[in-house]
Amino acid sequence: MKTYKLAVLPGDFIGPEVIDATIAVLDALSSKYGFSFSYTRLPFGGSALESHGTPLPEATKVACGAADAVLLGAVGGPVGRHPWNRVPREQRIESGLLGIRKYLGVYANLRPVKVFKGLEHLSPLKSEVVRGTDMLIVRELTGGIYFGKPSYNRADEGLSTDVYTRPEVERIARVAFEAARLRGGKVTSIDKANVLDVSQFWREVVIGVQQAEYSGVELEHLYVDNAAMQLVRSPRQFDVIVTSNLFGDILSDLAAVIPGSLGLLPSASVGGQVGLFEPVHGSAPDIAGQDLANPAGAMLSAAMMLRYGLNEEAAAKAIEQAVERALAENPTKDLGGTRGTQAFTEAVVRAITKSAG
Ligand code: NAD
Ligand code: IPM
Ligand code: MN
Repeated sequence: MKTYKLAVLPGDFIGPEVIDATIAVLDALSSKYGFSFSYTRLPFGGSALESHGTPLPEATKVACGAADAVLLGAVGGPVGRHPWNRVPREQRIESGLLGIRKYLGVYANLRPVKVFKGLEHLSPLKSEVVRGTDMLIVRELTGGIYFGKPSYNRADEGLSTDVYTRPEVERIARVAFEAARLRGGKVTSIDKANVLDVSQFWREVVIGVQQAEYSGVELEHLYVDNAAMQLVRSPRQFDVIVTSNLFGDILSDLAAVIPGSLGLLPSASVGGQVGLFEPVHGSAPDIAGQDLANPAGAMLSAAMMLRYGLNEEAAAKAIEQAVERALAENPTKDLGGTRGTQAFTEAVVRAITKSAG
């Protein structure tokens, strides 16, 4: 029997809660699909900062690089426990997350936003607005203003640099066009080309890639302010969105409102040797330890791991169907249901076991 080696980075607050839930689901799957998992839990995030003096210990990096895939919960702490300002960059908890993405070279962050049939009512938006939404946000993950130099926070001035090189834009554009070919055939590139030089460059390069290699894919451009409005006004218009690191971060939290909760959204970060799979949400200190975390985003990230990282499509579908079924029966409290993390996880595991016959 094949055993996949998973590096597991639970992280902080609800990170370990959604990871435990996801591991229960993966274990329920294993027997049916003829493989198993070995899990190596590694120090990462705020707890690693306390125990190892860094949010991303060297041994954690190395173990991730040697794994078949990396499964991540979430990191971060409340302001006050680890003050966010004037802390050296390497000591910031979130730097551990940026560090592992950069180390693995996972420049493409795929964030699907889908409204399941019959579950439109989970959205705070009108059902007729969200019905049929099925988009993929392709967020550039290892460049842009998150990593640009120079960057500093001085007594009288703060600076961050938004920079993209041609190869960086070309490769993320290709990911988006390739995805669109397999989906609805349309890419919307989102930028701020009416103001920012970096966006004008981004747009030119995306157009160049489309003209040279993907003339069969439709390409449109939206300014990010309009895009934010269009996402809530008529989300069905989108197929594949491609955008920069910062815009993709903001727009994907916004898009989470369409299916109903940030706790639902999964992601896959790919483009390197080893993929990194993590929910879109953060460590949510406000709800930690109360059985309130929605683990669906983490479970669906594990499904993306099976699909894109391990080439186990049938098992990926089994998780997606089980999560959908558990949501339809009675969702978690963030979605207006009555289930806590545990009860929801048991429901997903039950759905998987049942379908396993
Ligand atoms: P957050 O995503 O942690 O929480 C935002 C809101 O959504 C909160 O009200 C929270 O209770 C709710 N929420 C989030 N996930 C949920 C879930 N699974 N189920 C139910 N409700 C959920 O964002 P924040 O509060 O701005 O940030 C908290 C910390 O998380 C910060 O340190 C931030 O930097 C970090 N963060 C980490 C990641 C990551 O590790 N990938 C992502 C985003 C934020
Ligand atoms: C995310 C998070 C991270 C990001 C932070 C915590 C560094 O918000 O994964 O969406 O901005 O990429
Ligand atoms: Mn984010």
